[in-house]
Amino acid sequence: MPKKLLAISSSPRTKGNSDSALDMLLDAVKDKFEIEKVQLKSTPFSPCRGCGFCEKDGECIQKDAFIPLMDKMLECDVLVFASPVYALSVCAQAKMAIDRCQALWARKFVLKTLVSDDKKRGVFIATAGQTYPDVFEHTIPVAGFLFNVAGVKNKNMQYVLLDGLDKKTDFSKSERAKEEVLKAAEVLNKIEN
Ligand SMILES: Cc1cc2nc3c(=O)[nH]c(=O)nc-3n(C[C@H](O)[C@H](O)[C@H](O)COP(=O)(O)O)c2cc1C
Repeated sequence: MPKKLLAISSSPRTKGNSDSALDMLLDAVKDKFEIEKVQLKSTPFSPCRGCGFCEKDGECIQKDAFIPLMDKMLECDVLVFASPVYALSVCAQAKMAIDRCQALWARKFVLKTLVSDDKKRGVFIATAGQTYPDVFEHTIPVAGFLFNVAGVKNKNMQYVLLDGLDKKTDFSKSERAKEEVLKAAEVLNKIEN
């Protein structure tokens, strides 16, 4: 059975920098994994209401398109999440998904029914327009919440952090950025089945 890879693209800009970096990664590992890619911008879901319903049994009260996505996040062997840096953090679509993972947080930390999988892998792809040091400083822990509650341990995380990409086509012109993506793909291609 091929391993399952779930890729979540959160930028509102299809074929922009983070989405293109994600597509390049997927293309480089397509022979190894059974791949599903989800665009958050075409996934109709609502923000977390903070109602606390999920703390009773780990289920979210909002039965929208985020529920099957959350199930897939738990079932996959490799979870790839891509976001641009917006106002120092992830973009709004990404943050909305991360907040909706509160049901997984409840399962892991309140109900203790969800344990991390020692083999599950995570890849966080982020793109930023600026190049100042630590431009990803706030983005990484925010995205880290999603990987944590989806059962990915820190030791199994890879970070593809691509700075200095601002215009929509900057990724396609950056050999340095493409090299980073291919390095991450190489690691995934070496995972033992
Ligand atoms: C609303 C908005 C906020 C942004 N904030 C930042 C920022 O805080 N730091 C930064 O380096 N780039 C910032 N950028 C630039 C994006 O991170 C950059 O263009 C990125 O490559 C976009 O990725 P995408 O094409 O996948 O959407 C911002 C862009 C937008 C539209």
